[in-house]
Amino acid sequence: MRKLLLSGVAGLILAAPALSSAAEPPSPAALWHDIQVLQKSHALMLESKPYQPGSRTVDVYTTDLANSAENDAVRKAGSIEKVKRYPSGALVVKENYNANRKLTGVTAMLKLDGYDKADRNWVMAAYKPNGQVVSYGKVQACISCHTMVTQQDFVFAPPPKQLLPVSVWKAFFPKQQIAPQYAQLLKQHPEAIVK
Ligand code: HEC
Repeated sequence: MRKLLLSGVAGLILAAPALSSAAEPPSPAALWHDIQVLQKSHALMLESKPYQPGSRTVDVYTTDLANSAENDAVRKAGSIEKVKRYPSGALVVKENYNANRKLTGVTAMLKLDGYDKADRNWVMAAYKPNGQVVSYGKVQACISCHTMVTQQDFVFAPPPKQLLPVSVWKAFFPKQQIAPQYAQLLKQHPEAIVK
């Protein structure tokens, strides 16, 4: 019995380094807390404006927030499009608002070294306005669109600097309508469309 127990303990010790090398994400509640801190301090992401145009009628307006790790990386690189890698701990948040400027949802990306090497180590999260989790973790739907800007480490520059064509939005969100304002931007800034 004693021998068995000991070998069990030894097994745990051997397994420990492997466990600690895969970075554990914060709980959805802990990340929501960090998001609220950014919301309360109106910590805008560089290059973003409050209530900038969003792409669909579910997010007619958006506000991007970021912590200092994220914004420092943008400042150092010169622009969002020039950032090659964000540091671990970088947090960026997108608040979605409807036409009445009512908050309809919040998405977030947290950089966490060692979390998801194949997809640039971002923890992807979506919440309802009250903090209830919609999706969390290595969310493929989020990742497969944000890979369009892999060269800038998955973070898009806000409209009108970078835009996605209607066909891409429709492929991901077939039931949602494109915001008229966004359709207008696509016409005015064809050079901003990400390919
Ligand atoms: C169809 C493509 C697409 C999908 C799917 C998508 N996003 Fe985005 N996301 C964008 C674009 C384009 C922007 C830039 C526009 C803006 O800031 O409003 C953006 C902006 C963001 C931002 C602000 C930082 C940035 O990149 O500008 C966050 C955070 C974010 N998305 C998280 C998510 C999460 C989490 C999911 C999944 C639940 C998701 N996104 C799904 C296209 C997408």
